[in-house]
Amino acid sequence: MSIFPIYRPRRLRANENLRRLVRETHLSVDDLIYPMFVVHGKDTANEISSMPGCYQYSVDRLVTAAKELASLGIPGTILFGIPEMKDPLGSEAYAEDGIIQQAVRAIKDAVPDLLVITDVCLCEYTDHGHCGIIEGGEVQNDPTLDLLVKESVSHAQAGADVIAPSDMMDGRVGAIRDALDEEGYENIPIMAYSAKYASAFYGPFREAAESAPQFGDRRSYQMDPANSEEALREVALDIEEGADIVMVKPALSYLDVIHQVKTEYQMPVAAYNVSGEYAMIKAAAQNEWIDEKRVALEVLTSIKRAGADMILTYFAKSVVEWLEN
Ligand code: PBG
Repeated sequence: MSIFPIYRPRRLRANENLRRLVRETHLSVDDLIYPMFVVHGKDTANEISSMPGCYQYSVDRLVTAAKELASLGIPGTILFGIPEMKDPLGSEAYAEDGIIQQAVRAIKDAVPDLLVITDVCLCEYTDHGHCGIIEGGEVQNDPTLDLLVKESVSHAQAGADVIAPSDMMDGRVGAIRDALDEEGYENIPIMAYSAKYASAFYGPFREAAESAPQFGDRRSYQMDPANSEEALREVALDIEEGADIVMVKPALSYLDVIHQVKTEYQMPVAAYNVSGEYAMIKAAAQNEWIDEKRVALEVLTSIKRAGADMILTYFAKSVVEWLEN
């Protein structure tokens, strides 16, 4: 490469049209998945205090919100359910008339083209708030697989388009793939939360989904934030077991992991711009300390630049508005 004064990098930054031509990363509506929370009841929209602009919706209001997503051109939503009753085995997670099952049927009925991705986990449904069966104070891996399989099949039966296991039990992708195939759902993709870290950035989500663990923490199943080689091993396992899309979560503190996963495996990569990442920007913007639109677009662009093909983000609806103007 030539050096100064032959090469002057500023030449190509001189005006917006030049900048457009040399821009390497483009954030678009095509990249976005909007997460939503669904509760029992009617005509309900409870705003989540730590996530301004995000709500726990009853099924009827969720359908209205789903129509809005479709009209904005957003490809899909990922759903999280808050059950009526929690119990040790999280039984509403795999009940035919569970909250997610009702929500999926209602959205697919009203807005058939919107992709409905369902988060498969037990923490919202268990009274102890952990993502698996507890015995002797420990989360049991293999017995939990049976429940995750039941939950996945039940979501598919309700009409879910994509199954997204977020529990971090070993072997769950393979177990879910086998069961979906056996039940005739061989065409339903699995979006695996492959490299999911034990992160403090999930704080606001646990208010939204009412899923905080009642004792201990999730560090015996979610990953240590210090590790990236381990993330590659997790991703390799999930691909081997049948994952169609692999996810890194959270996104912003794990851009290096997103990049390594994308470079190492030629697979579609999702990144989850999680609740705490959203809340930080919202809070600072409300204080007028930062410019919400510019910061959010910068963060989301950096997630794409790192290698994500799609981003799960609570900013999805705003992004469409911002990109249009
Ligand atoms: C369920 C789950 C969590 C998130 C997505 N699925 C919470 C957790 O693992 O504690 C977090 C999403 C967010 O913070 O936006 N296991």
